[in-house]
Amino acid sequence: METKVYKIENINRDQKAIRAGAALIRQGQTVAFPTETVYGLGANALDGQAVNRIFKAKGRPNDNPLIVHIADPSHFEALAHDVSARVPLLVREFWPGPLTIILKKSPRVPPETTAGLDTVALRMPNHPIALSLIQESGTPIAAPSANRSGRPSPTTAQHVLDDLSGRIPMILDGITPCRVGLESTVLDMSGDIPTILRPGGITPGMLEKVLGHVKIDGAVLEPLDMRQAPRSPGMKYNHYSPRAHVIIYRGQALGAMVGEIKKIAAKYQYDGQKVGILATDETMDRYREGLVISLGSRREPAVLAANLFASLREFENRGVDVILAEWVDEREEGLAIMNRMVRAAGFHVVDIEKPVEHKTKGDKRK
Ligand code: TXA
Ligand code: MG
Repeated sequence: METKVYKIENINRDQKAIRAGAALIRQGQTVAFPTETVYGLGANALDGQAVNRIFKAKGRPNDNPLIVHIADPSHFEALAHDVSARVPLLVREFWPGPLTIILKKSPRVPPETTAGLDTVALRMPNHPIALSLIQESGTPIAAPSANRSGRPSPTTAQHVLDDLSGRIPMILDGITPCRVGLESTVLDMSGDIPTILRPGGITPGMLEKVLGHVKIDGAVLEPLDMRQAPRSPGMKYNHYSPRAHVIIYRGQALGAMVGEIKKIAAKYQYDGQKVGILATDETMDRYREGLVISLGSRREPAVLAANLFASLREFENRGVDVILAEWVDEREEGLAIMNRMVRAAGFHVVDIEKPVEHKTKGDKRK
């Protein structure tokens, strides 16, 4: 199948492209589109056969449920039931935006979309193309990130094309890269205790202002705590992996971290490997080894987040065999960054203060 790419520079002028996308959605086909977090691969969330096409195009295990995207905050009521009184507070504060809310599902949502679970994940994205596509389609749109399963999420239309060319009929190209750059925060509101299943741009602190105490699922804090079984099915899969091997170096002192990475980089280079170093503005000038990419300044975690996936793909395009990455502060916004980084590394984290190497049981790579 040929994958058509429609550039959308102006949402009003390029309505024809949106209408073409919406027509495909109504026919039960898939369409990739930008959101403020990452690109999604959408299909009619109420049509099980259409949703199956998403799983097929991505090569996604079908026990991993999808997020249902809506264009009007009140539309969650038709897709969920037994909704806690706190949910409208969250909706008012964070929608449209990078917060996905898990609720008990209504029978209208087919089992393909929720992978047979009795809950449904809902989000109203904050991107004009996404909202316009949903409105024009006249149906909620189920959409996981538009990458081949297990690969870093796409933040540009080119990333989507690199992964899914020939496997999907259409990409709506939003031109500018996705602003947030990491997927939404997934918050389980289906039980008594609000629980973060996946960290994202909406931080634990922001949620606590609205909800009081919020629990963070044990799987989020891996590799700090690897003992609990994952509650969000997506957590158990190896995620975000570029084709290169990733190793993370964790330490309190920046100087020691840089020193260790330089030493290891030289060793890999001596062995004939092409080395990439994932650095920050504060450290990048200190490296003389390999290909150095800075994620941005440590003082601006939102910038680090926005650049992470594109940087992993850039190393890969430049033929890097091994990526040595610096640990960054894992509090608040940093939690989402480190959650994705440790997964990209298959949980391969080296603590440089204690020279022990953790390769935990969560590692399913290679
Ligand atoms: O920002 C985002 O969330 C992007 C854009 C496209 O909206 N979408 C996205 O979808 O990241 P995906 O499929 O890559 O990640 C959805 C995550 C998975 O970890 C999945 O297991 C979890 O949400 N999830 C979906 N439905 C769930 C449910 N009913 N219960 C628990 N976890 C669920
Ligand atoms: Mg994904």
